[in-house]
Amino acid sequence: MPETVSPASTSTSQDAEIAAALGTRSVVLVGMMGAGKSTIGRRLSARLRLQFLDADAEIEAAAGMSIPDIFETHGEPHFRDGEARVIARLLDGGPVVLATGGGAFMREETRSRIRGKAVSIWLKADADIIMRRVKRRADRPLLQTEDPAATVDRLIEQREPVYRQADLTIWSRDVPHEKIVDECVDALHGFLCGASAASVGQTTSSTMDATR
Ligand code: S3P
Repeated sequence: MPETVSPASTSTSQDAEIAAALGTRSVVLVGMMGAGKSTIGRRLSARLRLQFLDADAEIEAAAGMSIPDIFETHGEPHFRDGEARVIARLLDGGPVVLATGGGAFMREETRSRIRGKAVSIWLKADADIIMRRVKRRADRPLLQTEDPAATVDRLIEQREPVYRQADLTIWSRDVPHEKIVDECVDALHGFLCGASAASVGQTTSSTMDATR
């Protein structure tokens, strides 16, 4: 019996094509604190039927202590070394959808691992949105400064040229989460399957162009 193409079934086939094209590669979300990496990552993983992992939570589990405690007891360099090790291990166990902490992509070794074993998405957010979101939680050691807004501005300036090296960029803004997830899915499909969202529903060969 011919299949009826409804929005739900086209979406499912697009999601399945992405998962097939990924193979063992993961989808890694990078970007500033408060950009929505965990929130979007969790929803994206459900769409792609992949496991979701949060690098910060995995670092805390491996260390047996919270991130503020790791910073306070051992210092940032120790945290960064652990972060790089944990992300390397998680990427070896792909495919997963992995949300990384805001500083992880700054390390060249981690960037090159992500390049080799994943497709990266930079969730780009404006400073005012970041500030509004990070104010809700006081567990970010880097923002325990006299002037957190100035710190966010400085980090954005330092980090954006590096985040820009991600394979894909999605603008994270105040719209329903599902809209951002849809944009991630469309971008992943275009990148991996060589087809834009507009061609969904047509017969396209996703495997032929899935060279990455
Ligand atoms: C950091 C971001 C945090 C966490 C740590 C350092 C950063 O993760 O890894 O506090 O350097 O930007 P989120 O980006 O998930 O908040």
